[in-house]
Amino acid sequence: MTTPHIFITRRIPADKLAQLRQYCQVDLWDEELPPPRQALLEHVQGVKAILCLLTERIDAEVMDSASPQLKVISNCAVGYDNIDVAEATRRGIPVGNTPGVLTDTTADFAFALLIAAARRVVEGDAFTRAGRWKTWGLTQLLGQDVTGATLGIIGFGRIGRGMAKRAQGFDMRVLYFDPVSQDDSYATEVGAQSTDLDSLLRQADFISVHAPLNEATYHLIGTEALAKMKPTAILINTARGPIVDPDALYHALKDGVICYAALDVTEPEPIPMDHPLLTLQNLIIAPHIASASVKTRGKMIQMSIDNLLAGVRGERLPNCVNPEVYISG
Ligand code: GLV
Repeated sequence: MTTPHIFITRRIPADKLAQLRQYCQVDLWDEELPPPRQALLEHVQGVKAILCLLTERIDAEVMDSASPQLKVISNCAVGYDNIDVAEATRRGIPVGNTPGVLTDTTADFAFALLIAAARRVVEGDAFTRAGRWKTWGLTQLLGQDVTGATLGIIGFGRIGRGMAKRAQGFDMRVLYFDPVSQDDSYATEVGAQSTDLDSLLRQADFISVHAPLNEATYHLIGTEALAKMKPTAILINTARGPIVDPDALYHALKDGVICYAALDVTEPEPIPMDHPLLTLQNLIIAPHIASASVKTRGKMIQMSIDNLLAGVRGERLPNCVNPEVYISG
């Protein structure tokens, strides 16, 4: 068998690259920033596998450019809305992702954002650095209590469940909305109660988004949903930016429709520096780093390598989002 030719769309650690070089002829986009579209289209030509990040849109055009020997698309992320999976499936190309290994790291970060927003941690830091800390003030930078509050979780998959587990430690009441996963033993174990979206939006003090991005969730949190939330509500999004309508969120935060938001994901990414959201004080924006711990990112890269190598060998991917490609006939 000839050494398979693969394209990796971003710099990866040297030891991981060395692993791939043992088995593959590697074309590496050795940059911090993603390849521009035209470069992506050129570099995939003739490859057997693509190892990409969530910043790359892998659609029919990319698959056409790579065609016909493309055997696997390995996404180094758990979410895969950047890939046209239906198109890959139609062509019999398995798509890999990295579930499980980032659950706790991401839930930790979502909870960190929840507390940081509730207790105005980022504002407090800016206040100190600006030389505004003159005394201990009775009403200075008052926030909201986390302990005993109601948490509403939208999307009760692995990460949503991780949030529910963490909320237990803060004696929170937990509501969740998930059209697929309803009452189950895990929910009972962590004391989470299934509800419809409307009731969740109206009752929760904190609303944390953990749903995948798809047609049903695009701008799910828009003007209408925001208007249903309490004026004291705090919104956290660590899932995908386009689940929250950024213009609606701007107006809701500015006009006091809701109190605060903390985002790890935005629409678009990165958020343009002249975006009105960046003028607000009652908002934290992190640069999509919820899974960014040393250990977890190492595991994610390894999983995407394992998926890629299985694909080039014609074996079943250990983590495949479209297993229907293996159903013959
Ligand atoms: C990160 O957002 C991921 O989907 O892994």
